[in-house]
Amino acid sequence: MKVGGLIRVPGDKSITHRLLMLAAMARGVSYIGGALTSLDARSTAACLRRLGADISPLRPGSVTRIAGRGRLSRPRTRLHCGNAGTTARLLLGLLAAHRFETELTGDRSLRRRPMARVTVPLGRMGARFTPGNAPTLPLSVRGGTLAPLRWDLPVSSAQIKGSLLFAGMAGGVEVSLLEPGGLSRDHSERLLRAFGFGVETRDGRVEFAPSGQVTPFDAQVPGDPSSAAFLVGAALLAEGGELGLPGVGVNPTRTGFLEVLSRMGASVEVHEVEDRFGEPVGTIYARPSALRHTEVRASEIPGLVDEVPLLSVLASRAEGTTIFRDVGELRVKESDRLSLIAANLRAVGAAADVVGNDLHVQGAAPPPKGRIRTDGDHRLAMAFAVLGTVRGARISIDDKDCADVSFPGFFQALREIGKRGA
Ligand code: S3P
Repeated sequence: MKVGGLIRVPGDKSITHRLLMLAAMARGVSYIGGALTSLDARSTAACLRRLGADISPLRPGSVTRIAGRGRLSRPRTRLHCGNAGTTARLLLGLLAAHRFETELTGDRSLRRRPMARVTVPLGRMGARFTPGNAPTLPLSVRGGTLAPLRWDLPVSSAQIKGSLLFAGMAGGVEVSLLEPGGLSRDHSERLLRAFGFGVETRDGRVEFAPSGQVTPFDAQVPGDPSSAAFLVGAALLAEGGELGLPGVGVNPTRTGFLEVLSRMGASVEVHEVEDRFGEPVGTIYARPSALRHTEVRASEIPGLVDEVPLLSVLASRAEGTTIFRDVGELRVKESDRLSLIAANLRAVGAAADVVGNDLHVQGAAPPPKGRIRTDGDHRLAMAFAVLGTVRGARISIDDKDCADVSFPGFFQALREIGKRGA
């Protein structure tokens, strides 16, 4: 296909979750423009409503109004976090500072994802969990007065970091965190800083001082670079034209995929960058490109963790063998992403292998053909749909609807960029 036009991608998922939670913690009315309205964002809004916040329906194109009470209140029923790890882990941080008991659960995928990475440090701060070791959902949290925390994270993870920073913010205590690998996305740090909290990052250590205050705000969510990545991928695989994606967040802790793509020979550029609520936002341009292999280092993974499925399908169209180092964390995403990326690439005729915690993908020339098993994982569905745009490809996907978890209207957007290029 040929691509063309300027297309807006939906609001950033990570920032939407965080702004909704911060608005619920503010006393008064906040407004969020451009919020993501996907299933994951709806899960956060639904949980916060049960915790006492008044939130208008999340509708594409409309501003979301949130009336917060300055604190959360005891919910009458348990909270359902759907498919959203960020909802569960960040809410656990806030609830750790609230003196009541809340039960959280999620869908089948979320119930198998590890929670001890947040419940253990939150337990150190003073929260109580049932069952005691709280390894997975469902679990109950009883919050209370919190103690300061100094903690070394077992993996670089913005969900762990966000959860512990939100606990420090809601509990009014100092938190000092060290990420072991590269720096994970820093939206929590930037947002808390915008509210006047002392947040400093030095040599991978984040130091939080409970000096600020969450007050009602008016914010605009940038487009999600992780959603934009799929359309960038489609443009790179196309046969002509140019695609522009305006208003996308280009926070350097999210744009690792652009660096890797440049190394692979991709024609990708970012222009018109401006600052919006402490986050850089710009227009990404992408043009069809002949791709070559690369090695993605372990330290780069936190900055592109959600883009590995997309980069893997692109690697399957590149010359040579691409290696992704130390991507074991993908086993505990919305699916066992690591195994499924490799299995699905093999299912469509490419060579891919998991070697320890590394992923090897060998580029192949013949058009990909086969059936994709997603296990309900939105990013797998979208990555392989992008691969399906290659001339002569015949790819069927077992569950397309799961794209709604993060990118409602993804398949329409994919068709749209092709039509505009025609
Ligand atoms: C997210 C962090 C990432 C990412 C997820 C959203 C966030 O998870 O995969 O889609 O909003 O904090 P980890 O930080 O646990 O790797």
